[in-house]
Formats: sequence, structure tokens, C-alpha cells
Amino acid sequence: MKGPALAALVALFVGIAGAPSAAAAPLAAGDTCAVDAATMIWGFKESFRSYISGTIANGEWTVADGATYATPDFSWSAGKGSYGQQSGLVAFDGSVEFTGHGGILDTTIAHPQLRFDGNKAMLLLDVTGTTQDGATVDSRDVEFVEIDLGGHTVYADGTITVTAAPTTLTAAGAAAFGTYPEGEAFDALSFTLPLDATCADAVAPVSSPWWIISSVVVVLLLAAAAVVLVVRRRRA
Ligand code: HEM
Repeated sequence: MKGPALAALVALFVGIAGAPSAAAAPLAAGDTCAVDAATMIWGFKESFRSYISGTIANGEWTVADGATYATPDFSWSAGKGSYGQQSGLVAFDGSVEFTGHGGILDTTIAHPQLRFDGNKAMLLLDVTGTTQDGATVDSRDVEFVEIDLGGHTVYADGTITVTAAPTTLTAAGAAAFGTYPEGEAFDALSFTLPLDATCADAVAPVSSPWWIISSVVVVLLLAAAAVVLVVRRRRA
């Protein structure tokens, strides 16, 4: 393979893969970046929404204080707080009130907070209402669902983006909401965390699997091209 052809091949693959937009040293353990204007999208639990809006509960949900709904997801915005690879807490205003059975079912989830710990995160919620068993609940900062961030996180252009990360109900979430057992799958959750500009460059880019795969392909192609070159020169 001739030099220009090799260069074109490499350029093609790097172009397809997309180089990470920020390469920098990792944050020191415990360091955090301020976060402003964070967004979060979550459907809560699809089967629960079906139950509420269907003929059994004959209910509805009402969003307030900045939360919005567009089928099939609730959205929160203007989240503030901090992010670190092993720590951080980002809080949103906004609530969702689920009602049904002529008012017997009336549960509100509010004030979501994302708390980070490596490849896991926790979604905390304030939960008020009545469980299916009739117990009254009024709990702040409930560790509601655990979020599996592995393979769902990308860092680019100063923003951490998590797309469709699986969530599972915690023991505390099961106690506060009722009906569903610990470990129950809730809807996948997505969020964006714009980092403070003065701090963003210090965060190590979180590699997406696609970037890793593409890098390996480029390295293998370079190695193959080098072998071909050496063999041809020896023959010549
Ligand atoms: C008049 C009182 C109630 C009646 C008659 C009732 C009835 C039912 C029925 C029949 C189901 C099964 C639905 C299905 O399999 O599709 C169900 C599910 C459920 N109910 Fe109720 N319920 C009542 C009150 C409540 C209350 C107060 C809550 C509190 C949040 C609640 C939460 C749930 C939940 C979480 C499910 C599971 C929905 C799913 O994911 O499939 N219910 N209920």
C-alpha cells in the first residue's frame, strides 16, 4: 500500500469514528465540576403509565414546577449541582402527580436528584402519597432507582451525555412506592450535564464503545499496512 493511500484510509476511519473532542488528564479523585442547565428524560415506568391512563385506574398525571411530559417521557431541565467521576449531585425542580381510582391512588414524585458513583448513579426522589396497600408515604431524598451508566456515557464538547441507561428499583424505592419489588426494571433514563467551562477540560473523556472499536480497527489496519510494506520491500 502506497503512503498517500494509507493516509487516506486512516483519515477515512478517523473521520467515521469521530475523534473525541476533548482529550485531557482525568480529574483527581474527589474533584468535581459545577453543572448548570442539566436536562433529564425519563418515562418513570411504562407499565405504570399504561395502568394509570387505562380503564383500570382511569387516571392521569399532572406535571408541575418545571417538569413536562411528551409521550412517552417526562422531562426536567435547568438542573444544577456538580459532577465528578466518583461523586457529584445534580438536582432538578419539578414534580409528577399520578392519580387514579377516583383519587384513592394519588402519588407524587418530585425534586429528582442524580447522585454519581463511578459507573453507577442513583436517582433520588421525594415521594408522597399512598401505596397500593394503603400506607401513607411522605419521604424526602429516597434513593429510588439505581442507574447503570456503563456503556451509556459519552463526554464531548464540555457535556456529559448519558443515553438510555437502564434503571432498577432499590429497596428504599420499593418501600416508598409500594407494589413493585426491589430490582424491578423501571424505564431507561437519559440526561445531559453541561460542565462549567473552566473545569470541563480537566475531565477525562468517557469513551463510547464505538470509539474504542474504531480505534482498534485503525490500529489493526496500520499494522497490516506496515506488514505489507515490509514484505514488499524485502521482495524488491
Ligand atoms: C381502588 C384501589 C385500587 C384498585 C381497585 C387497584 C387495582 C389494580 C389492579 C386490578 C391492578 C392490575 C393491573 C394490571 O394487571 O394490568 C393494579 C396494578 C397496580 N396498582 Fe392498583 N389499585 C388500586 C389502588 C392503587 C394504589 C393506591 C396504588 C398506589 C400507587 C396502586 C398502584 C398500582 C401499581 C403500581 C400497579 C402495577 C401497574 C403495572 O406496572 O402493571 N394501586 N391495581
